[in-house]
Amino acid sequence: MDAFECVTTKLDIREFSSKEVPREIKLKVLEAARLTGTGLNTQHWRFILIENKENLKKLAEDSTSGNWVANCNFAIIILTNPKYHFHLIDAGRVLQNMQLVAWNYSVGSGIFTGIEEDEFRKDFGIPQQLNVSAVIGFGYPIKKLTGKRKDRMPLNVLVRNEKYGISNKS
Ligand SMILES: Cc1cc2nc3c(=O)[nH]c(=O)nc-3n(C[C@H](O)[C@H](O)[C@H](O)COP(=O)(O)O)c2cc1C
Repeated sequence: MDAFECVTTKLDIREFSSKEVPREIKLKVLEAARLTGTGLNTQHWRFILIENKENLKKLAEDSTSGNWVANCNFAIIILTNPKYHFHLIDAGRVLQNMQLVAWNYSVGSGIFTGIEEDEFRKDFGIPQQLNVSAVIGFGYPIKKLTGKRKDRMPLNVLVRNEKYGISNKS
């Protein structure tokens, strides 16, 4: 699959099959994270890999918008350092790269950002100086995905030509 197809067919999924994701794909996903660029090349992020079913359940319990994570095959918590004003851009870039690389191997994923912060920090041993920026749950999708259900605005609403006020006609 080329990069464009990967972007256009990928959907965020919340229903996973029980099929195990092979170790080498998990390592590819983590390698994609490692190789993503950060502002000033600070590499301030840290990743927690969660594979244990009990810990996946705990992730779900500590979330306010990611109950579904209990049934994924593995999850990655993305921590970033809020002392850098660009830390959430770095979080967004790395999570998208991980999701796209996973999807290249037919592994689906979903993200959540809502957490019960105190419980979450306690359960996963997260130091105060790092921000819990997102959690990604990965696994093989239950349903076949084509990307066709994407609900997106058309380009003529989203894109302006040269200045904000001028709509793109293409
Ligand atoms: C910044 C951000 C935060 C999100 N937070 C959550 C979340 O807390 N829980 C959840 O289930 N999905 C979350 N999502 C997933 C979005 O709902 C999803 O990307 C959007 O609906 C488009 O999905 P699609 O690509 O499958 O069409 C989040 C996505 C982004 C980019």
